[in-house]
Amino acid sequence: MKPFKIRNIEINPPMILSPMAGVTDYTFRRLIKRRGGVGLVVSEFISVEGLTRHNPKSKRQMNFAEEERPFAVQIFGGQPERMRLGAEMAEEVGADILDINCGCPAPKVVKHGGGSGLLRDLPRLEIILKEIKKTITIPLTLKMRVGFSDSTINAVEVAKMAEQCGVEHIQVHGRTKEQGYKGLANWDLIRAVKEAVAVPVSGNGDITTIEYGLQKWRESGVDGILIGRGAMQNPWIFRQFNDVLNGREPYQPDLTEKKAVLLEFFEMLREEMPEIVALGKMKQLAGQFTKGLVGGAQFRQTLYHSHSADEILDNITIYFETLQQRQTFGDGLTEADKDLEIASCDAFSEEETSCEIAANV
Ligand SMILES: Cc1cc2nc3c(=O)[nH]c(=O)nc-3n(C[C@H](O)[C@H](O)[C@H](O)COP(=O)(O)O)c2cc1C
Repeated sequence: MKPFKIRNIEINPPMILSPMAGVTDYTFRRLIKRRGGVGLVVSEFISVEGLTRHNPKSKRQMNFAEEERPFAVQIFGGQPERMRLGAEMAEEVGADILDINCGCPAPKVVKHGGGSGLLRDLPRLEIILKEIKKTITIPLTLKMRVGFSDSTINAVEVAKMAEQCGVEHIQVHGRTKEQGYKGLANWDLIRAVKEAVAVPVSGNGDITTIEYGLQKWRESGVDGILIGRGAMQNPWIFRQFNDVLNGREPYQPDLTEKKAVLLEFFEMLREEMPEIVALGKMKQLAGQFTKGLVGGAQFRQTLYHSHSADEILDNITIYFETLQQRQTFGDGLTEADKDLEIASCDAFSEEETSCEIAANV
């Protein structure tokens, strides 16, 4: 696996932090990028309905720091004109790459023709891609699922059409829309896409260990790999992957560093948002991060039940001091890596109307 290029942008290492709504914001992206090994970061998916109606939240979601480059903005929507305008706005704020979401399974996104809804309306997708290509100069990329349902798998067809429209990188999450997050991603279909197009293809789905990632990369021949949920459990996963690719032992952070990463995240959150929001975000990361720690379940509970920044900080100190002194905490168990359940963009409720999408998403 070697660095690859999206036009003139080098993705080095060829590892991408997969976009996750509500997770891969400005703070989380920098936390992960600073651990090393990440070649590309992507915004959360951003509603073009919100962007083009000047919704402050949508505009804020395009903020990024220079240290994040190369940085891609991902937009979603089903209306070609709004998608074109949203793409222009992303270019204007200085994004390096514009990415189109063709994967979100949330009913209220799909209902309006966006996300994975585009996988069952290829003429609409084609119009959107062509409209956007007419107006932006930065590379256009696509992130998609392999199809809408098991009986309508069309990843290869979508990828070929996208390539014809000038898309310069295709990222495939090997599940269908109907599958949601159940079962495993199908990397054979990812390989089929890689074999069908000339532009770089990156694969995505269930990579939480270096071994599994290397195996899927070898089997599929993809140019790059995206990791989403695995980065919440293990912020060093990209660095470890890169170590192995370069013939080194994978980096193993010690307890002091694990504590430091939690504290760094919390400090960044508190600088950037109200305390109540920072507490929520901290608990969200802790929910995944603690799964790789001894006594993680009990530690997580202490964080969930913290109601102030001081309480969170105290509980982090108690946990790591106990572990350092006694080598154990709580029941002393470490939870299984495979336990990755987490709410996704699916969390949007169907009851909300498109206007509410514009206002809130
Ligand atoms: C909480 C959450 C939010 C997500 N939001 C997005 C999103 O905004 N855009 C997108 O393309 N994919 C989104 N996804 C899908 C991920 O990018 C990725 O394709 C999927 O989680 C499979 O990769 P993984 O097994 O490495 O997590 C989201 C997934 C999760 C769990």
